[in-house]
Amino acid sequence: MIRLAIRVRREEAEVALAELLTLAPGGVEEIDLGDRVEYAVYGAPGELPALPDVEAAVGGALVEVVTTTVDDDWADRWRAFHQPVVIGERLHIRPPWAPARDDLIEVVIDPGQAFGTGAHDTTRLCLELLLQLEPDGPLMDLGCGSGVLAVAAAKLGFGPVHGIDHEQQSIEATHANARANGTMVQATRFDLLRDGPAPSAPTTLANLLCPLLLDAARTGFAVPTPNVLIASGLLTTEADEVAQAFAQRHGFEEHARKETDTWAALLLRRPG
Ligand SMILES: C[S@@+](CC[C@H](N)C(=O)[O-])C[C@H]1O[C@@H](n2cnc3c(N)ncnc32)[C@H](O)[C@@H]1O
Repeated sequence: MIRLAIRVRREEAEVALAELLTLAPGGVEEIDLGDRVEYAVYGAPGELPALPDVEAAVGGALVEVVTTTVDDDWADRWRAFHQPVVIGERLHIRPPWAPARDDLIEVVIDPGQAFGTGAHDTTRLCLELLLQLEPDGPLMDLGCGSGVLAVAAAKLGFGPVHGIDHEQQSIEATHANARANGTMVQATRFDLLRDGPAPSAPTTLANLLCPLLLDAARTGFAVPTPNVLIASGLLTTEADEVAQAFAQRHGFEEHARKETDTWAALLLRRPG
């Protein structure tokens, strides 16, 4: 687990915090350092805001950035840091220690070491697009991480649900989170860069970064080619290139696009 701490001048702290929260909507830890304030976020590698984004957001207020690997005292802070997320007024994604809500579909995710608490924008955008679909039949989650998307899909009524990831800890986390939610998700280890065409189902989710999505567009899918593909993990500047790659090689048409200031997600469909 990594702790990314950003120190800013006290007089500019509130403005800096507002900007930081656009990068870390799950919340930040705050420590008073006298004339400076430290804001910290915790995450698995790859889940934290990128340094250039932090510098751009906090701008002139930034004094120092300190990155540390936390191993002994992170558990309590990690708990305080992870707050529930509501998606589309339907899904309530929460860590096991947060209280349940009986008016929403509950998805309980133990953040563990795998990517995917539900709070990251790439996951949120993917879930918002998933909510636009009529839950129907088999679903594949490429790069399942903690299993948050796969478990949410199973709760919404997709099935059977399968996830793949190249990290063993993601497979274990997905199985554990699926069990904890009373859902059936089969997770298998698979490396999209080495193991051939991407596993697929009629509905396929791919919250991967742009190079992996472009690679998947080139390498193609195992049978069946998805009818619906939700591609997330793209910068807004990369979305057109990815949409075009799937259109040219596989005949997908773009049906919806969701964006934050930084990230984009695409809902792609194959006609017929
Ligand atoms: C952005 S995270 C998404 C996690 C989760 N699906 C979510 O939406 O929160 C991307 C996931 O892709 C996995 N991944 C990265 N490279 C991969 C590869 N070559 N083959 C399979 N999975 C990969 C990572 O381990 C990570 O779990």
